Amino acid sequence: MSIEHTPVLLKESLQALSLSDGKIVLDCTFGRGGHSRAFLQSVGREGRVIGLDVDESAAEAALALATDYPGGRFTFVPLNFRNLDVALHMAGVARVDAVFFDLGVSSPQFDEGGRGFSYWHDAPLDMRMGLSQTLTAAEIVNTYSEDRLTSILHDYGEERWARRIAKFVVSARAESPLVTTGQLVEIIKAAVPKDVRTAEAQHPARRTFQALRIAVNDELEALEMALQKAVEALKPGGRMACISFHSLEDRIVKKFMQAQSLRCSCPPGIPQCICNTTPLLATERRKPILPTSEEISENPRARSAKLRVATRL
Ligand SMILES: C[S@@+](CC[C@H](N)C(=O)[O-])C[C@H]1O[C@@H](n2cnc3c(N)ncnc32)[C@H](O)[C@@H]1O
Repeated sequence: MSIEHTPVLLKESLQALSLSDGKIVLDCTFGRGGHSRAFLQSVGREGRVIGLDVDESAAEAALALATDYPGGRFTFVPLNFRNLDVALHMAGVARVDAVFFDLGVSSPQFDEGGRGFSYWHDAPLDMRMGLSQTLTAAEIVNTYSEDRLTSILHDYGEERWARRIAKFVVSARAESPLVTTGQLVEIIKAAVPKDVRTAEAQHPARRTFQALRIAVNDELEALEMALQKAVEALKPGGRMACISFHSLEDRIVKKFMQAQSLRCSCPPGIPQCICNTTPLLATERRKPILPTSEEISENPRARSAKLRVATRL
């Protein structure tokens, strides 16, 4: 049952967060704790790590980490990071020195077939990151209108064949409701023209599965809310680091960091600044940090990772 998760961009994340003895770190995406463990090693006996994860199955790894780092050095809070302010309150922490996000799903979530995240395993159409959520992928594909499905596939999956896939889904479910990922994969394969499928290196269901997962978990809105709260939670000089795995997430992180670093938001042409904007973040580099080719060859899941970093002013 135990599928490991290899932490992505680990050395780069540690460097970005500039950790030292006594620092307090908020890991918003605990997963199996690969990053958290390294953070605990970097902050010494006086430091603390608070780990969040919306997926209850992270609790086992969290317990193991709390056992290895006793005395309140590690605290796990099973909450969505959109509520990171509540999580910090529960952990009894007012401000932190570092906030970290490693977005998306972990290898165990993806590879343990039953969750429905993977187009490689036949499983119920679920895709919930946390089992307390009610919306599932099955509800979306079986009840949303063709237009709404098209928008989801287009906006969250950047899927060129969104309309056609939505049409095929609606006509298939008129026969009987879709229950499994395998059924959905077959519908997508029928909807995407064969020459396109064979020409593409990626699995034809990749974009649809990404889109449904984002919609089920309301991932983009949760990220926007969490970034805002993360800035408020950081001490001056504190660091924020965020690893994203697709362009929609990366765009949100990049725009957020840019907007919070602005020194003036007056319209162009105004002779003197009247906006009194106070930047809350500083970014050192415009381009994200990417994994090395060695890391990608050892861990192919790292290939699309992008790390962005900012400092709280
Ligand atoms: C890529 S994994 C993190 C792996 C982790 N860094 C490690 O080394 O094991 C992402 C984790 O974030 C969690 N997650 C995703 N969205 C979340 C959210 N909105 N709130 C809390 N956890 C979330 C997922 O359940 C998953 O366990």
